[in-house]
Amino acid sequence: MSSVIYLDHAATSWPKPPTVMMAMQQAMNEAAANPGRGSHSMAVKASRVLFGTRMVLSKLFHVKNANDIIFTSNTTMALNMAIKGVLQPGDHVIATMIEHNSVRRPLEYLKRTHGITVDYVKVNGNGELDIADMKLALSHPTKLVVCSHSSNLLGSILPIAEIGRLAHEQGALFLVDAAQSAGVINIDVNEMNIDMLAFPGHKGLLGPQGTGGLYIAPHVDLEPMLHGGTGSQSEEKEQPTVRPDRYEAGTPNTPGIAGLRAGVDKVLELTPSSIYAHEWELTQRMIDGLKGLPNIVLLGPEVRKPRSGIVSFVMNNVDSSEIAFRLDREYGIAVRAGMHCTPLAHYAVRTEKSGAVRVSVGVDTTEHEVDALVKAMNQLYRT
Ligand code: ALA
Repeated sequence: MSSVIYLDHAATSWPKPPTVMMAMQQAMNEAAANPGRGSHSMAVKASRVLFGTRMVLSKLFHVKNANDIIFTSNTTMALNMAIKGVLQPGDHVIATMIEHNSVRRPLEYLKRTHGITVDYVKVNGNGELDIADMKLALSHPTKLVVCSHSSNLLGSILPIAEIGRLAHEQGALFLVDAAQSAGVINIDVNEMNIDMLAFPGHKGLLGPQGTGGLYIAPHVDLEPMLHGGTGSQSEEKEQPTVRPDRYEAGTPNTPGIAGLRAGVDKVLELTPSSIYAHEWELTQRMIDGLKGLPNIVLLGPEVRKPRSGIVSFVMNNVDSSEIAFRLDREYGIAVRAGMHCTPLAHYAVRTEKSGAVRVSVGVDTTEHEVDALVKAMNQLYRT
């Protein structure tokens, strides 16, 4: 195993639990036929792998029917499926100023090509939602409210249940981007008024890259984004109506989905609450260690306030890419610098010109690793 100090879990978690790799290898050896195509034993085994993963995801997100969970390659694909499957020409959508480009770009594309209108609701300087601005935006007829559960730049956490309630009061559907929250913050799709939940398999759920999914509530009829073979109702010209087949054309990533199952099993065993508590303690330790550095500006919620496992910062007069480069080359510490695919959040906290350094922790991150980052920053920038 490499000796890197990996503090880039918001991009993808690493290392994966050994059980994830074992499950993938086992699937390749024993269940790598094409699920849903053919009735021979190995094809049936492969179908069972998919269903088993749908079941544990249903438990995690409190979904009643496992077939309402659709596998995708990543959160971006899930968000595109939801956004493009719901919106019609002329519709009004509400998003927020912490959205990732995986929400902003599909919306801007539909604005240009389908004449939809979009409001991006304000956040304050800590990345916390301006609920009054959300209510104002909802005073216009709205088809969809889409928002990130937690900012991938700032770590701020949005009041999802309340936003969902407000959206439903106005007859809008509610789509949540759980890229930074799935596996780390408790999610109950019913209690939180969520109609669609897009999630990655490879971050907080500890699965491999190339996995993710979309929960679609039973009352939401999305237009499928992909059309093609499903192994079912093959004589029909149209996509089947039955889920998950309607939204899963083409051969799935069975080994990846087997690995995802093992990742979700680990999350369920540890529980999201304890993972959140662990990551939160580490972020507070990091903030305490960094806050005294001259010229540092820490972004996101104030110390001791709720946040996901992310601490981003700017050093006045030092380029953020240079900091990340030096941490990597001189200390073997992996962090992410730049715009983090979220220019809107950078505009909101006025770091669009400088970019920022983002440090993000995960389930196995230790205090020792956080202290190593703090020590490196002090050695490099305490003048
Ligand atoms: N969205 C991921 C990140 O924030 C890739 O780094």
